[in-house]
Amino acid sequence: MRLLAPLIAAAVFSTALFAQTATDAIAPEAGTSTTVAATSPEIAAALEAKAAGKPVEAENWMVAAANPLAVSAGARVLRDGGTAADAMVAVQAVLGLVEPQSSGLGGGAFLVWYDGASGVLTTLDGRETAPLAATPKLFLDDTGQPLEFFDAVVGGLSVGTPGTPRLMEMAQKRWGKSDWSGLFDEAIALAENGFAVSPRLAELVAGDAERLSRFPATAAYFLPDGNPIAAGDTLMNTAYAATLQAIAEGGADAFYYGPVAEDIVATLAGAAGNPGLLAPIDLATYRVVERDPACVTYRAHEVCGMGPPSSGALTVGQILGMLRDTDLAALGPGSAEAWRRIGDASRLAFADRGRYMADSDFVPMPAGLTADGYLAERAQLLDTDKALEDVEPGNPDWDHAMLWGDDQSIEFPSTSHISIVDSYGNALSMTTTIENGFGSRLMTGGGFLLNNELTDFSFATHEDGRPIANRVEPGKRPRSSMAPSIVLKDGKPVLVVGSPGGSRIIGYVAQAIIAHLDWGMDVQQTVAMGHALNRFGTFDLEAGTTAEALAPALEALGYEVSIGERNSGLHAIAIGDGLSGGADPRREGIALGG
Ligand code: GLY
Repeated sequence: MRLLAPLIAAAVFSTALFAQTATDAIAPEAGTSTTVAATSPEIAAALEAKAAGKPVEAENWMVAAANPLAVSAGARVLRDGGTAADAMVAVQAVLGLVEPQSSGLGGGAFLVWYDGASGVLTTLDGRETAPLAATPKLFLDDTGQPLEFFDAVVGGLSVGTPGTPRLMEMAQKRWGKSDWSGLFDEAIALAENGFAVSPRLAELVAGDAERLSRFPATAAYFLPDGNPIAAGDTLMNTAYAATLQAIAEGGADAFYYGPVAEDIVATLAGAAGNPGLLAPIDLATYRVVERDPACVTYRAHEVCGMGPPSSGALTVGQILGMLRDTDLAALGPGSAEAWRRIGDASRLAFADRGRYMADSDFVPMPAGLTADGYLAERAQLLDTDKALEDVEPGNPDWDHAMLWGDDQSIEFPSTSHISIVDSYGNALSMTTTIENGFGSRLMTGGGFLLNNELTDFSFATHEDGRPIANRVEPGKRPRSSMAPSIVLKDGKPVLVVGSPGGSRIIGYVAQAIIAHLDWGMDVQQTVAMGHALNRFGTFDLEAGTTAEALAPALEALGYEVSIGERNSGLHAIAIGDGLSGGADPRREGIALGG
């Protein structure tokens, strides 16, 4: 399984190089590296552009994602005349191999699609579902107390029915042009012949070694001979190659029925100390749901994304909607007043998110969360000159009255984002996840990790006697923060963007849209800009960036600040006269175009 010779010795570009040349230096994520090997001249050029803080420019198509091998697979499909939906399948298949900690067949995803031919924007919900055997008490102990977070994450209990394979198939059937089976060729070849372990994967494995060692199949893959895989090792995954081959030949049914499905259920049932509830019926009845996009108007653009069960587009939309009357362009990105208004708009939006947002197929949600009048009323709270002291949920319009308690779920940064534009004028924005880094830590016999998405539900069922909207229910989808977005101007896409990062995703995406639309940053500046986020009162500032320099002024306005790594993974494509791609310098991804 493990070959110690590096697969390819090639040019290497480092964080240090980026920090010397980019417009806004970024501190690397603690314990991880953004150093990645270039395995082709095309990838070398893309890494060089990223290191220099420059976008990648192209005329016809563009793909940006978290790993050069995955981007390269997508680029090949696009170059050969495939659509963005075809390329997504190739990218996701490779990401599941080379970035297995973030997304894969065992997880879920949300996809936003702009159709070049019809001009229609739609979304696909491939979110995991709670097993039919789950109850609201899933994450309570025998005394009715919520479990410790990682006691719930690691093992079978947290695993929801995966949605990614069915979403890949549905998107490709609907919008693809390529032969389905050929889209897996590159991933299968890499899995059979081996790929070079990236520095980020190696460092995350080393940092999670104890949890990964708890299950024999997981340990055998990530800790062969008891030692963590190292950067540059050649790693093969023949079981994953076989699963992809089965899906290539039999479609997603080869995942949801038969040996792969039986193995998933057996893996969960056999999880030592923490077996799961997922049953064959959950896999057999899983459905991807097409939903209307959630859109708000901002600076004469339509900002559109994924509505419930994600809170992403509604919360991003609330933040932007409350800032409509703030002249952020005049204030500029270095202004503490700009950040006070952005930060407190975000706090107000997060208060509504915690009270009202959940899977709307299961719980009624207020109709008016992004109504113009409601957001204008909420925005009046920003007309002060210091940090808000009390932030409470608002009272948006209801179809009928409901009393909810506030959500108590815990979210950690994880996940991956794919942005693609093809030569037919289609645009795709997809955020994909297995939730926590390495998900439930359960590796199936099919060579992929299973998610822990169910821990995105609130562990508590009630607050002060009121039910919590985002409580567990059988068949329900846990509330997400994922915010795959497409920004339209006059009905045409101008920006495709999204990020990983748990509940910080919302702030990363809102900031990226502001950076691009208000502050005129190009896409690489947009994704590289230092982060300032405020979800619950404390301003989270990114160490080593211009955001950190805001600390004294924000403290003077009455905020607590916390300075540290803010590990976004933004991938963005701007669409103008040509295409312009940006890849987050905090991670290993690139943009490639043609
Ligand atoms: N598990 C990450 C999210 O859905 O927001």
